[in-house]
Amino acid sequence: MPGPLFLYALCGSLRKGSTNRALIEALRANAPPGITIEICDLVGDLPIFNPDREAGDMPASVLELAAKIRAADGLVISSPEYAHGIPGGLKNALDWLVSRDEIPHKPVMLVHASHRGDFVLEALTEVLKTMSVRMVEDTFFRINLLGKTPEQRRSILADAETQTLLSENLQRFARAIAHIGAEPAGH
Ligand SMILES: Cc1cc2nc3c(=O)[nH]c(=O)nc-3n(C[C@H](O)[C@H](O)[C@H](O)COP(=O)(O)O)c2cc1C
Repeated sequence: MPGPLFLYALCGSLRKGSTNRALIEALRANAPPGITIEICDLVGDLPIFNPDREAGDMPASVLELAAKIRAADGLVISSPEYAHGIPGGLKNALDWLVSRDEIPHKPVMLVHASHRGDFVLEALTEVLKTMSVRMVEDTFFRINLLGKTPEQRRSILADAETQTLLSENLQRFARAIAHIGAEPAGH
């Protein structure tokens, strides 16, 4: 198992009862020893992106987000689909990061809490690849929590098979991060 890893998780939904947030929380709860996941709570606090503010007037919340991303060995992203696209808050967070140097080459694990929403998965993949992240595609999985009661959700996420899936995908992500880190510079 590679050394300790810090993963930073972004959720595209600010909803209190968010299924995507529940999925990220379940990943955090099932992280194998050596993997720490912190869930980002800054997405809803960021002002609307304005390129004029990039030169010396960066909002403190953006700098905080950028510092977390810099410190992270990898990102986990889970997002609902809104009108066939990326929710505005998450897209806004990504827009603030586009011209900065924290995100290029950062390994990303995409997960999804619904059987629907292929447009947002496609859009996120395109945007993140344009931002030069390293999408670790074989760690993608979806667990359908859409339309489930809180009780049903808890039961799905507490299921031994689900927990193994969460833990194994995190281990696969950790191995991919180690592999990416070992590549010669420039890849
Ligand atoms: C404003 C809005 C727009 C939505 N648009 C779509 C859509 O285009 N396609 C889709 O599959 N679901 C759509 N949904 C449903 C959400 O993607 C779905 O309920 C998701 O699982 C919610 O995630 P959350 O529980 O993390 O908030 C929309 C929901 C909202 C609130």
